[in-house]
Amino acid sequence: SAIPVITIDGPTASGKGTVAHRVADKLGFHYLDSGALYRLTALSALRRGTDLADEHALAKLAEHLQCSFQGGDVILSHENVTDAIRAEEVGNTASKIATFPSVRHALVGLQLGFRKAPGVVADGRDMGSVIFPHAALKVFLTASVAARADRRYKQLIGKGFSASMEDLLMDLQARDDRDTNRAIAPLVPAEGAHVLDTSEMTADEAVDQVLQWYAAIG
Ligand code: C5P
Repeated sequence: SAIPVITIDGPTASGKGTVAHRVADKLGFHYLDSGALYRLTALSALRRGTDLADEHALAKLAEHLQCSFQGGDVILSHENVTDAIRAEEVGNTASKIATFPSVRHALVGLQLGFRKAPGVVADGRDMGSVIFPHAALKVFLTASVAARADRRYKQLIGKGFSASMEDLLMDLQARDDRDTNRAIAPLVPAEGAHVLDTSEMTADEAVDQVLQWYAAIG
């Protein structure tokens, strides 16, 4: 169909959230934070005490997720969980349950629903490879582990969480390994994706690059 999709995939803390959000704002497009859906499923499971090895139960949770996105806020069953889903424990749990095929499958329809006029910028791991393979523009945003740990550290402290640089480096590495080596929808640049290393770039510079690529395809 004619509704344009821009996909921005990449590892955790690569800055893709910020970049995708700003690109969406500049173009007046909708924004899909697909990681938030995995985080919401994880938060829901943690709160209910769902067995994190029970793929079927987790897929059911994902399928019946009562969530909405209002401005910058993430709502889960009427509760504002914008900050709660950013906790490291939730991110780590999200990355574990994201290895289950039926959990991923349960979230497909929800993600496709974000494609609405005039367009959508989708941020995640498999936006360009699995969910929107025919996207108008695909970007793979990356940065060194050190640069990403530094960003995540500042982000967490800024939100009032405590953080240790050493733990963050280890967590990032572990999450990268899990996201990259999983059997289903592994984190790899989609076919035709532009790779952008933002280690030495500001978010605005990255945004400008993405907008330039988008302008170039018309
Ligand atoms: O991007 P974010 O850190 O919020 O994502 C949390 C976790 O959800 C990631 O570590 C990844 O394992 C998983 N995820 C995924 N596919 C996506 C988005 C996120 O597997 N499209």
